[in-house]
Amino acid sequence: MALWGGRFEEGVDELTQEFGASLPVDKALYRQDIAGSIAHSAMLAAQGVISQEDADAIREGLLGIQADIDAGNFTFDINDEDIHMSIEAELTRRIGDAGARLHTGRSRNDQVATDTRLGAKALAKHLMEQNLGLRRALLDAARAAGTTVLPGMTHLQHAQPVLFAHHLLAYTWMLQRDFARLAAAFDAADANPLGAAALAGTSYPLDRQMTARDLGFARVIENSLDAVSDRDFLLDLEYACSVMAVHLSRLSEEIVLWSSQEFGFITLSDAFSTGSSIMPQKKNPDFAELIRGKTGRVVGDLVQLLVTLKGLPLAYNKDMQEDKEGALDAAHTLSQCLTVMRGMVSTWTVNADRMRAVMHKGHLAATDVADYLAKRGMPFREAHAVVGHLVLTAEKRGVDIADLPFEEFKAASDLFEPDITGALDLDAVAAARTTQGGTAPVRVAEQSEKAEAAYAADEAALAALTPVVEMGREA
Ligand code: ARG
Repeated sequence: MALWGGRFEEGVDELTQEFGASLPVDKALYRQDIAGSIAHSAMLAAQGVISQEDADAIREGLLGIQADIDAGNFTFDINDEDIHMSIEAELTRRIGDAGARLHTGRSRNDQVATDTRLGAKALAKHLMEQNLGLRRALLDAARAAGTTVLPGMTHLQHAQPVLFAHHLLAYTWMLQRDFARLAAAFDAADANPLGAAALAGTSYPLDRQMTARDLGFARVIENSLDAVSDRDFLLDLEYACSVMAVHLSRLSEEIVLWSSQEFGFITLSDAFSTGSSIMPQKKNPDFAELIRGKTGRVVGDLVQLLVTLKGLPLAYNKDMQEDKEGALDAAHTLSQCLTVMRGMVSTWTVNADRMRAVMHKGHLAATDVADYLAKRGMPFREAHAVVGHLVLTAEKRGVDIADLPFEEFKAASDLFEPDITGALDLDAVAAARTTQGGTAPVRVAEQSEKAEAAYAADEAALAALTPVVEMGREA
C-alpha cells in the first residue's frame, strides 16, 4: 500500500502505478531530497515539533540511505511512486517511528518544489562552470589567431575582411550573455518553498527562515500557493539552455562549413571527427553536426514545459510531475555539447593560408574603394555605383577588383590616384575598421582584454555563489 493509502480500499492498478510514477526521473534528485528532509527535521526539532532524538535518528538514517545510493547499493522500487516516498519508506523501515514523523508539517508539494529548486541550482552552477570552460577555449583560440584575417560574410557571401580573432570573440560575448541568463535562472531557483505544505501553509510553528538558511536558499517564497505551483525557475533554466544551445548550433554550423573542402579554414583533430563505413577517405564533422542536432531537443524541452504549465490552475497539479525530465535532459544534453565543443575548439588546426587565399575572391575591398571616392568628395551613393561598375568589369574578366590595373580605376573616376592600390590591401582594409568594436587589430586587442575581464568577473561571480547540493550518481 502506498504511503497515502489510508483512505483507499484497494491498491492502484499495476499499469497506473507505473504510469503515475516519477521515480525513474526524480531519483536523480535523491541528494536534494535528503538535504531537504534533514533541514526540515532539524527545524521541526528546533521548534519543538519532534524530539531532538527523532531528528538525530532521521538525519543518521537519511545519510545512511544517501551513502547507499551513492555507492550503488540501493534498489529503487517503482511501487514507491517517487523519490520522496521511496526514501521516506526506506527511512521508516530502517528507523521506525522517527521516520514516520519526518513528514510532519510538510507535503510532497513543497517537498518536490524544494528538491527541484535545489537541483536547478546545481545544474545552473554546473553549466556556468562549463560555459566558462568553452569561453576559455575560445579566448585562447582568439589569442592564438593573432591578426589572421578571413573573409567576413553576410548572407554567406564574402563581404569584408575580418580578423579570425574578432569572429571567435563574437562567440565569447554570446556565451557571456548565456552566463548571465544562467545566473538569473540560478537566482530564480534560489528561494525556499518549504513550509508551504500542500498549498496553504500549516498550523505547525515552522521556521521557514531556518530551512532556507540550512539549505542555502537566498530567501523564502512569500506566498504558499506560489511556492508549490511556480516552475518559472525551470523555464528560466531551460530558456538559458536553449539560447546557449542555439549559440553552439550556430558555431557548429560554421565548423561544418569551415572544415569542408570548399572552405578548408580549419581541420578538426582526429579525436573530434569520424570516418565513413564505406568511403575510406571521409573525415566528417559528426560532433558539430550532433551539437546542431541536439539543439532541437533542448529547445523541445523548453517548449514542452511551457505547454505543460499553460492552463494549470493553482496550486499543485499532477501535470507538474512532467517538469523534471525535460529540465534534466536539457541541462544534461547541453552539458555534453559544451564539453564536446570545448574539445573541438581547443584541438582544431587553423589554416590561415587558406583563409588568406580565398580572400582574393569576392571583391572584399569594394566598400573601401567606394569610401576612397567618398572621402575625396564624391557622394557615397555615386561612389557605390562607380565601384559597382568596376566590380562588374572585374567579374567579366574573371578577376578580383584588387587585380584590375590602375588605368581601369582612373577611367572609372578621375578621383582615383595611384595610392588606391594601398586601399585594396586586405590587411589594411581590416586595419582601417577602427570604430569601437570594429575588426582593426588595435580594436580587437582592446576587445579581447574586455572579454577577458568579463570572463574574470563571471569566474568571480561563480566562486561567490552559495554552495549547492550537488547532483548524485542517479542524475
Ligand atoms: N512525484 C510528484 C512530482 O514530481 C511529487 C509531488 C506529488 N504530489 C502530489 N500531491 N501528488 O510532482
